[in-house]
Amino acid sequence: MILSIESSCDDSAISITEIKTKKLLFHKKISQELEHSVYGGVVPELAARLHAEALPKILEQVKEYFPKLKAVAVTATPGLAVTLVEGVTMAKAIAVALDIPLIGVNHLVGHIYSLFIEKETKFPLTCLLVSGGHTQVMEVKSLTDIQTVAKSMDDSFGESFDKVAKMMGLGYPGGPVIQELAKDGDRLKHNFTVPLHQSPLIAFSYSGLKNAVRLAVLEEEKNEHPNFKDIAASFEHIATKHLTMKLKKYFKTVKPTTFAIVGGASANLYLRGQIQDLLKPHNAELILSELKYCSDNAAMIGRVAVEMYEKKLFISLEDLDIAPRSLL
Ligand code: KG4
Ligand code: ZN
Repeated sequence: MILSIESSCDDSAISITEIKTKKLLFHKKISQELEHSVYGGVVPELAARLHAEALPKILEQVKEYFPKLKAVAVTATPGLAVTLVEGVTMAKAIAVALDIPLIGVNHLVGHIYSLFIEKETKFPLTCLLVSGGHTQVMEVKSLTDIQTVAKSMDDSFGESFDKVAKMMGLGYPGGPVIQELAKDGDRLKHNFTVPLHQSPLIAFSYSGLKNAVRLAVLEEEKNEHPNFKDIAASFEHIATKHLTMKLKKYFKTVKPTTFAIVGGASANLYLRGQIQDLLKPHNAELILSELKYCSDNAAMIGRVAVEMYEKKLFISLEDLDIAPRSLL
């Protein structure tokens, strides 16, 4: 079995995965959303302190598996430096105490493997990662052959939902609240410009849209009873249209066969529907993670760890270091 730890942002999670069957035997996650919500975003130092409390609590529950552990895996990149350290330090301590190898996992690869928890992998695939930290398209051929073909030049898709929610005073995380608010809104009410629509670049940008939404929010606040549902709906529509327009362009040269959406924001239903429509003329299959594994978790880290264990991709105590920025 492998014990895996995730602490790259605001979720403390530990999983136990059986190597032979790739079965998830245990998974527990303690989210810090409530604690960060008052600040409208993740406060790194607070997140680190909360991990230091939560991780040992979860670890206590998996002690019975200790004699059967063959390796310990941990998210080492990318993420917040002060929170990655919490997981990495715990993983090193376990590796020393039980004399088992260490596996350092890339969180983005983890999101890709969230598609295959308790399942066999299905490669090649084109994968759109939309999370709080990243917006990128990757061509995935195998565990070690992942090419990023497009990424955001500034904010990420999920982050833009968080910032828009913050402008409206709706707390953190913004994705689910904006999605809910947008349901009854008019998607065409605010004619926000689609980012980079005139650019030939296949890349993403959310800072301009965020600013346009900010101005609309300020305008709406002048009303006695401000109602943000039309702004939320128009924002969600344009944020998604930006992704689908760039993907449409990309599909002109690289035809999709299997397409996946992963990451916390892949839970967005409007995005799922729009991508589904985009894939129809290509007869491409859309694959998604289970909703509970879209956002950060340790089950996906465990699933990557099993693949890395089979390939003996271990790392020494001295070499395992955190890297806030991913090379992917
Ligand atoms: O993957 P994740 O849990 O953490 C990172 O690796 O960043 O993603 C969290 C992000 C947050 O920005 C959150 O607002 C966004 O995913 N998110 C959503 C939805 N649910 C979560 N964004 C849009 N629509 C949603 N339904
Ligand atoms: Zn993530």
